[in-house]
Amino acid sequence: MSYDAQPMNILGIETSCDETGVALYSTEHGLLADALHSQVDLHAVYGGVVPEIASRDHIRRLLPLVRQVLAQAGVERPDAIAYTAGPGLVGALMVGGGMANGLGFAWDCPIIPVHHMEGHLLAPMLEDNAPDFPFLALLVSGGHTMLVGVRGLGEYQLLGTTLDDAVGEAFDKSAKLLGLGYPGGPALAALAESGNETAFALPRPMLNRPGSDFSFSGLKTAVMLIVRDAIERGSLDARRADIAASFQRAAVDTLVGRTLQTARREQYGRVVIAGGVGANRLLRKEMGERFDGDVYYPRMAYCTDNGAMIAVAGALRFADAEQASEIRARARWALDSLAGPGVATV
Ligand code: KG4
Ligand code: ZN
Repeated sequence: MSYDAQPMNILGIETSCDETGVALYSTEHGLLADALHSQVDLHAVYGGVVPEIASRDHIRRLLPLVRQVLAQAGVERPDAIAYTAGPGLVGALMVGGGMANGLGFAWDCPIIPVHHMEGHLLAPMLEDNAPDFPFLALLVSGGHTMLVGVRGLGEYQLLGTTLDDAVGEAFDKSAKLLGLGYPGGPALAALAESGNETAFALPRPMLNRPGSDFSFSGLKTAVMLIVRDAIERGSLDARRADIAASFQRAAVDTLVGRTLQTARREQYGRVVIAGGVGANRLLRKEMGERFDGDVYYPRMAYCTDNGAMIAVAGALRFADAEQASEIRARARWALDSLAGPGVATV
């Protein structure tokens, strides 16, 4: 990857949801240091993310993580600070934005507001095997399910999205029905390994409709009915792994099927998978086997939320840097409203 500006070190700060992520990225040497604090344990008892608890924990964790990352890299202060400005939980975003502005003011260095989903989209740029533009991106997280045509940095065409639940949400809700903890995706995927994926016939929503949109609420409802039936028969414990495996297979078939249809129609020879659900092994395997072009994804740790993807996105968007002034925090922010670097859209 090439950068226009002088070589520099960029601090990345991610606080949009329930992970506090900090990283230091060098445009010359790549990632220098990286630290993450997951709040999963704090929210697990509530079965989902509690925004107020998330904000308070970011406050507690962020500065120590910044110190840790700088110490680990042996860098006294970065040349610029990138932070997630949205979309996400506003209180949580304001913690990262406040810290970035405060440090930018104190260090007199520029700060760069970053779109969280653009961070996910650019996470494969952290790898040796980074994709060139153009590519088709399947962005799959707890809040989003999108197919995005990526022609260049900031040149995003939203080709498809979910009409209801995000696929990560469907994983989490199905996991909850199966009595698995929060967040359910990884737990459901682990349980599925010992199950029979053909045990239950579940829908592959939307695959036989034109376009590139998704829908996952019907799949979630189908899981609910199967679980209810199994409870009535007293067979839930015996069938849990089979239900998990059947659900995972249906969700993955839907994601891969829709991506292949779209890549063919829009003529993309490269596919990028990013976002939390991109950590799913079956999804990676199926896409690799069924797509006849090249498939790229970040390593597992950079699929879920992290500071490294924000730092690398900040490096690529250095033209958008500003002086510390306003804390930018947007709960909603459409990815396709972004423009190329240097054209303010925040
Ligand atoms: O990107 P992310 O960390 O946070 C958001 O921006 O939403 O994604 C979290 C989502 C959760 O729904 C979680 O259950 C799901 O990603 N997830 C997985 C796996 N690992 C995380 N879903 C399926 N299989 C996995 N291995
Ligand atoms: Zn995310």
